Amino acid sequence: MTAAAARTPRSLPGRRIVLADAEILTRHAAAWLLNRALGTPGRIAICLSGGNTPRPVYALLAQSPYRDCFPWDRVHWFWGDERCVPPDHPRSNFAMVRAALLDHVPVPPTHIHPIAAADGPARGAAAYETELKRFYGADVLAADRPLFAATLLGLGEDGHTASLFPGAAALRERMHWAAGVPEAKPEARVTLTYPALDSSAAVAFLASGAAKRPVLERLTRGDDLPAAHIRPAGRITWLLDRDAAP
Ligand code: 6PG
Repeated sequence: MTAAAARTPRSLPGRRIVLADAEILTRHAAAWLLNRALGTPGRIAICLSGGNTPRPVYALLAQSPYRDCFPWDRVHWFWGDERCVPPDHPRSNFAMVRAALLDHVPVPPTHIHPIAAADGPARGAAAYETELKRFYGADVLAADRPLFAATLLGLGEDGHTASLFPGAAALRERMHWAAGVPEAKPEARVTLTYPALDSSAAVAFLASGAAKRPVLERLTRGDDLPAAHIRPAGRITWLLDRDAAP
């Protein structure tokens, strides 16, 4: 088999669900998070994506019926990445989730674990790794005990996910659970690394709109993009609307 043939799978890894439009996609993503939370006993961690696509998903979770049946008292909330801006900045992923969801539902404040990215990429990453390890209760991720019950990831048009951008040094980080991305624009970022993101019992990629179709086609062809290297303990589900789906 040629190298090219070896790397060109004809489908996305995991399960692919194509929804008719962005609104139905939003409802399906909210149901996915709710089902993951209800289906996982005890204290659980959910890792959220930033960006624009998931915002309506978070807003929907704050409304009935989701709000009424979500296990708010058992769930801890983490972020897959953050921009190095103040937590009330318009570009803050924490500020986005807080405005769309956390300010409207009964989440105990101790269950909200924002990335202190305003302290800078290196300090923010080190502090978040400490927070993650404290929550997890160990310094080494066990394959049979995922850190996250559910991880929601977005997909950039360049194939990035979280703040794992093409060519970033953070792509090569296999020991630390979080890394700084000082070169990110328009501001530096903090991102979870592959080891932390892969320590997920379930991962859902959320992609909507025709602008995401080319990158999804590249992923389907097996192109070497950051999002292609997410290999969670559990299953990957691609939640796409019809405009985005290859
Ligand atoms: C961020 C996200 C990033 C995002 C993609 C897609 O902080 O922006 O973590 O990875 O998910 O860039 O963004 P959209 O949903 O806005 O297209």
